[in-house]
Amino acid sequence: MDEWIDYYDSTHTIYASKLHRDLHFQIVARDIIGYISSPDSVVLDYACGEALSAAKVADACGKLYLAEPAPGVRGRLIARFAPNTKIRVRSLDDLRKMDESVDLVVMNSVAQYMTPDELDSAFAVIRRLLKPGGRLVLGDILRPEVGMTKDVLALLKFASSHGFLKDALYGLASTALSDYRQLRTRVGLQRYSEDQMIKKLAAAGFLGSRAPFNIGHNPWRMTFVARHAFQRN
Ligand SMILES: C[S@@+](CC[C@H](N)C(=O)[O-])C[C@H]1O[C@@H](n2cnc3c(N)ncnc32)[C@H](O)[C@@H]1O
Repeated sequence: MDEWIDYYDSTHTIYASKLHRDLHFQIVARDIIGYISSPDSVVLDYACGEALSAAKVADACGKLYLAEPAPGVRGRLIARFAPNTKIRVRSLDDLRKMDESVDLVVMNSVAQYMTPDELDSAFAVIRRLLKPGGRLVLGDILRPEVGMTKDVLALLKFASSHGFLKDALYGLASTALSDYRQLRTRVGLQRYSEDQMIKKLAAAGFLGSRAPFNIGHNPWRMTFVARHAFQRN
């Protein structure tokens, strides 16, 4: 769904304030670091967005690939992380040309913007990139039975515990009138039950299970951890 890529490439208002945006990326980085099993690991953040705390992730691993489809966002990533020798920025097309070399792939808060077929293609690319024993962590999956009210509640709870409740309320009001709301109504977001996602992962050759906690601030969404279903020797 390219319209969502264009949305993320625009000057959108998905974050209520700078503090919200910075905290979001700090928490996502903290949660990604929790999945890194060795300081030598090669990590790929698939559709990483602005990845403002990527330097922290890079400190915790051997090499970090930041892959992002939105060209404007990718340009900023290249400029922001040019001095960091552990970070490489890639397009999603570039990933198709890479060798099997990655220990951990994280795809957080992305699957909802893809058609089911796009997600299958991404799984195929990721499966080929993962070393035997490597893991895919798929975060922030929306469930069919959980609607927008829970997203609003999760944001307000996050905002009130981190001191940006006023900005969040203002942000929610402007989001209600924004391109995001229009796109969410018109194009929609993809949702999967736990069972559906485990089956989708299995069809792509992964053995997946739900993690106890979601990545990021929204406890109503789900994270899955998956490995190659058939380990090669
Ligand atoms: C909510 S942001 C998540 C960014 C980051 N992973 C995080 O956790 O903050 C959604 C990301 O998905 C990307 N995206 C949107 N539609 C996509 C699609 N159809 N295929 C691949 N990526 C897409 C956007 O460019 C954006 O980087």
